[in-house]
Amino acid sequence: MSRKVAVIGDGHVGETVAHHLVVAGLVDKLVLFDLNEGKVKADAIDFKDAMANLPHHVEVTYNDYAELADTDIIVSALGNIKLQDNPDNDRFAELPYTSQQVKAVAKQIKAAGFHGKLVVITNPVDVITMLYQEGTGLPKEHVIGTGTLLDSARMKHAVAEVLDLDPRSVVGYNLGEHGNSQFTAWSTVRVLGKPITEIAAEKGLDLVDLDKKAREGGFEVFYGKKYTSYGIATAAVRLVETIFSDAHSELPVSNYVAEYGLYLSYPAIVGADGILARVPLNLTDEELAKLQVSADYIKTKFEESNA
Ligand code: 2OP
Repeated sequence: MSRKVAVIGDGHVGETVAHHLVVAGLVDKLVLFDLNEGKVKADAIDFKDAMANLPHHVEVTYNDYAELADTDIIVSALGNIKLQDNPDNDRFAELPYTSQQVKAVAKQIKAAGFHGKLVVITNPVDVITMLYQEGTGLPKEHVIGTGTLLDSARMKHAVAEVLDLDPRSVVGYNLGEHGNSQFTAWSTVRVLGKPITEIAAEKGLDLVDLDKKAREGGFEVFYGKKYTSYGIATAAVRLVETIFSDAHSELPVSNYVAEYGLYLSYPAIVGADGILARVPLNLTDEELAKLQVSADYIKTKFEESNA
């Protein structure tokens, strides 16, 4: 089976996703899209210069929407780096720009007859994922946002650091908006075979501080390099690999949650057919209240923006 992926938006994030897919041998065909024709053509040539030294050949093309007809997965990484740099560190600052771009791109995707899975990075990712689903008419289960898959990784990084552990040994989720209203659902977090709340009591861990690190970890990266790329690209590539391998992985991704009538991050089983099932969590009343606040925030900002 020839695995074909399109990356729409060839900036810092898109190029990192593309590079990871190519060097990890996760694709056979790669289609790059960007408004900056010079950049995307140069990246296509640059990747072709890599082929002689890679164990796996990848056919690379760019800016051709007809290629989407038989593309398996599209990754949306388009964004506006200038709008990302705002005093409130609010990912909704990009919405006026990205909502317009996404509406135009969604029309092109639909016209091209794309019928694969759509992985969305573009921020504010929960609303943008909703706009992509509406604009393309793809089944809701086939349109998935990276959501708090990245924030959960930041939580695992923070918890692992204080416990001197491998972040992959931390299980659990950040939920809600991939943004300032998200939260760590500590009732879902387990490490060393125990609920983290027990470990926290034994070792005096500051869960409030660790939750803050999960939510704001990206800002420290952003202050240093004016964008983030490796954490978010790896989250998106994990989703691509989960779909291609039909892994049936349990992941906290932005998916359509009917009880809220919108996309937000809640754990789901992900496989070849996208969102296969949702994972019902027994959240505490406090966590359910935080999830409602996050859902309300997404809804309000979406309506305000008249996206
Ligand atoms: C992040 O948190 C890009 O929103 C993404 O790094």
